[in-house]
Amino acid sequence: MAAPARGRFITLEGGEGAGKTTLSRALAARLAAAGLPVLRTREPGGAPGAEALRGLLLTGGIAWDPVAEAMLMFAARREHLAKTILPALQAGIWVVCDRFADSTLAYQCHGHGLPRRVWEGLAAVALEGFAPDCTLVLDLPPAQGMARALARSGGAPDRIEAMGEAFHSRVHAAFQSIATAEPGRCAVLDAKMPPAALAEAAGAVLRDRLGAPL
Ligand SMILES: Nc1ncnc2c1ncn2[C@@H]1O[C@H](COP(=O)(O)OP(=O)(O)OP(=O)(O)O)[C@@H](O)[C@H]1O
Ligand SMILES: [Mg+2]
Repeated sequence: MAAPARGRFITLEGGEGAGKTTLSRALAARLAAAGLPVLRTREPGGAPGAEALRGLLLTGGIAWDPVAEAMLMFAARREHLAKTILPALQAGIWVVCDRFADSTLAYQCHGHGLPRRVWEGLAAVALEGFAPDCTLVLDLPPAQGMARALARSGGAPDRIEAMGEAFHSRVHAAFQSIATAEPGRCAVLDAKMPPAALAEAAGAVLRDRLGAPL
């Protein structure tokens, strides 16, 4: 039997509370309803070793050196790619991933001032030129995203959510500039739309750009 056609790798990016996880569920459901095999995953994490690293990165117990933190992010990403994403794509599965390398560029470099060359070097080693087939950038004013995230958590801000307005403005601007720099890979969606309209718009992008039967 012929090998299945390679699956497609779709990433969802954007600031806190923009609606990535909500959209990831809706998109995966639409792709599955259209008869495609789908895997939903998220970063940091998505493979056993990467989940272990997620615990180290997100618990907030360690004030990481910024380069060490980026190395751990990319170590987790490499593990996720090697153990989960690439095998799925090879098996013909469409992979919908909540955050990927763009988030490290936006948060660590634009947000925290990590030199871009560090990100570029780590990305070159960890990803070896691999990139998403399509990245959906959810565009929401940071204040609205924070309000959504706070409402979701019952008012208790987590480590990243507590970073402050200027930080989140830089992250927001970073996602815009990433999308502008790579218009072939990235599509910006207005995340102020209600969830169903957003899922419809995202589906249209996947249909137009990747030929998804949506
Ligand atoms: N399009 C939307 N319109 C209004 N509310 C939304 C929309 N999408 C998601 N929400 C709500 O906003 C909150 C945040 O959504 P979600 O968890 O999907 O965001 P996220 O981008 O994954 O956030 P995080 O970056 O913190 O993981 C949730 O309570 C969710 O129900
Ligand atoms: Mg989420």
